Amino acid sequence: MAKETLRILDERTNADYSVSVNKGTVRAMDLRQIKTGPEDFGLMTYDPAFMNTASCQSAITFIDGDKGILRYRGYPIEQLAEKCTFLEVAYLIVYGELPSEQELRNWVNEITHHTMLHETTKRFLEGFRYDAHPMGMFISTVAALSTVYPESRNVHDREMRKLQIYRLIGKVPTIAAYTYRHSLGFPYVYPDNDLSYSENFMNMLWRMTEPKYDANPALSRALDILFILHADHEQNCSANVMRAVGSSQADPYVSIAAAAAALSGPLHGGANEEVLKMLDEIGSKDRVPAYIDQVKAGHGKLMGFGHRIYKNYDPRARIIKWAADQVFATTGKNPKLEIALELERIALGDEYFVKRKLYPNVDFYSGIIYQALGFKPEMFTVLFAIPRTVGWLAQWQEMLEDPERKIARPRQIYTGYGERNFVPIEKRTVQKSAAGQ
Ligand code: ACO
Repeated sequence: MAKETLRILDERTNADYSVSVNKGTVRAMDLRQIKTGPEDFGLMTYDPAFMNTASCQSAITFIDGDKGILRYRGYPIEQLAEKCTFLEVAYLIVYGELPSEQELRNWVNEITHHTMLHETTKRFLEGFRYDAHPMGMFISTVAALSTVYPESRNVHDREMRKLQIYRLIGKVPTIAAYTYRHSLGFPYVYPDNDLSYSENFMNMLWRMTEPKYDANPALSRALDILFILHADHEQNCSANVMRAVGSSQADPYVSIAAAAAALSGPLHGGANEEVLKMLDEIGSKDRVPAYIDQVKAGHGKLMGFGHRIYKNYDPRARIIKWAADQVFATTGKNPKLEIALELERIALGDEYFVKRKLYPNVDFYSGIIYQALGFKPEMFTVLFAIPRTVGWLAQWQEMLEDPERKIARPRQIYTGYGERNFVPIEKRTVQKSAAGQ
């Protein structure tokens, strides 16, 4: 059997090293022994944007980007989307196994009974301007919960962590719905414990004067499926932030707020909002080829296309396309779908996109469904953050229980000045770069 080691010949010194290979990976710390002399710090790896660095070991989500495979805890996303409720999948992601009937009942019961926001938190939300971006409101309000639950700082107490997990999964839809009502100037609607997770979310979004909200089953199921698809995605930008902030032992509320901030960027979860802006800008199907030419000429990107890991069709995009048909059967077709389908058709046959293996990602079609459901594009990333809270919590919990856990603290290659002497202010000259500021 071949040895699981890597031999390295350092041509600077002619020294020979052998480092272990485990699961196709060498440990960066094993390279530190490679030195040119006693004064040398030792070899480091340089990997901006983590293009080829595993930052942790994880048993939560598996992705094979070349084959377009996504599994939570070993179960294919297609099976989970077809057969489970969102809270069932949330349990699986957090605890590692699908729940028994009794476990599911208890889990749903706990989450349902942690959906209310403290009235002071509600008033905190009321303080935002009428036109505040919902994602800014969401991030700030989740962070503000840290002040309501100071005991959550006890991150090494498992029972305490469990309680925060119930609270966070329970409260994020309430916060999200309140940001939506706030932007419309409508009174906030309290949670209804008789309803399922997605039905209750719809109730808090859309109930007006009726005494009981009656959710359309096709729409609540579509929302549940969208939540399942967005629940986790291994070490993406926001999960990495969750682990990095959590590694300092910050409480889960501020850690989730930081992860949600990472999600809000247009290259990550903010892309769904950008896709709708792009479809608006294109305006009609016949203008798609010109838009694609513009992207190929280097003017902007095709939003909702491309992925760091998927070099094949994102399996979530395929399920979303199916869910879109179910939604449109109730709401009527979103005219943007025609433009999106044409964009996909042309891009998938175009040498530029084929060569770079750029396929539609989860954000390409999600916005079209959200819009058909009645949401403004500014709400789209908040809708992503609700289910992703589950993934962030699972990643956080796994990180805290990892025996190799330490505060996340990368190295750098310093490229600044060497030591130089202080210059008094009257002797300083205006620097060219500073003058242009
Ligand atoms: N449109 C046009 N060209 C693209 C696109 C795109 N959407 N995405 C990547 N490319 C091109 C790049 O310009 C680059 O071309 P080059 O080799 O000629 O320089 C090549 O494809 C490789 O792209 P990178 O930027 O190196 O890929 P990276 O892995 O760093 O980025 C990312 C991945 C950020 C998702 C990128 O594809 C992108 O910006 N897509 C649009 C935004 C988007 O949809 N984000 C959502 C991702 S899914 C999620 O986070 C939930």
